[in-house]
Amino acid sequence: MDGKIVILTGAGISAESGLGTFRDEDGLWTKVPIEEVATPEAFARNPAKVHDFYNMRRVRAAEAQPNAAHHALTRLQTERPETVIVTQNVDALHERAGARVIHMHGELCRALCAACDHRWDAPPEMSPGAACPACGAPKARPDIVWFGEMPYHMEEIAGHLRAADLFVAIGTSGAVYPAAGFVEEARMAGAETLELNLNRSDVSAAFDAHALGPASEIVPAWVDEMLAR
Ligand code: APR
Repeated sequence: MDGKIVILTGAGISAESGLGTFRDEDGLWTKVPIEEVATPEAFARNPAKVHDFYNMRRVRAAEAQPNAAHHALTRLQTERPETVIVTQNVDALHERAGARVIHMHGELCRALCAACDHRWDAPPEMSPGAACPACGAPKARPDIVWFGEMPYHMEEIAGHLRAADLFVAIGTSGAVYPAAGFVEEARMAGAETLELNLNRSDVSAAFDAHALGPASEIVPAWVDEMLAR
């Protein structure tokens, strides 16, 4: 099919690169409560604990390698440059596979000043009270969208969903909005919808078609089929 493809990826696309998901059996949120490390209140209450959590994830993400699913999406975007990849993931595996990507939940490799909104490349380990290089305030935080905060680039993403001819969700549980609602936005715009996942998700019923299996297998197979059309 011709037309604009909009792809949403979640933690499942990075699972085979060794990065944990959140809600699977041994997922991150089964080990540490969200309210202790992934809210603005948690950061205000105990910034050291929050920095430790993201320092551990930042180091792991830096050591991880893109897998065949990331490389397949880059191949698709190279052949079909109008393809948009929106990710909920905060790792840099799409970029390291050569893809252009919109990070709606922020990025582990970036830091944000809570005082002046300046953003810069985060050091491997951040600590409480680190100063902002722009305004000097000791207000550096991970540039991650926490629960209760507005995801990034929502206007741009809404525009892509309105123009989508095909919306594909890869490796996401559909447990968190607004990303979980993207399939409905795309359907209302007349797009076909496809879910690629290891298992069925909370929003599987909203998709026209599904392919079940590990992303490193089903994403390359789907890209091959798309490029052969
Ligand atoms: N291949 C394909 N899909 C997989 C694989 C795999 N190898 N392994 C796991 N999955 C799927 C699971 O079936 C599940 O649907 O990946 C999904 C992971 O779901 P979550 O752990 O909920 O991750 P995600 O959907 O990305 O979470 C969304 O929630 O905690 C917040 O901000 C965080 O961005 C995250 C958001």
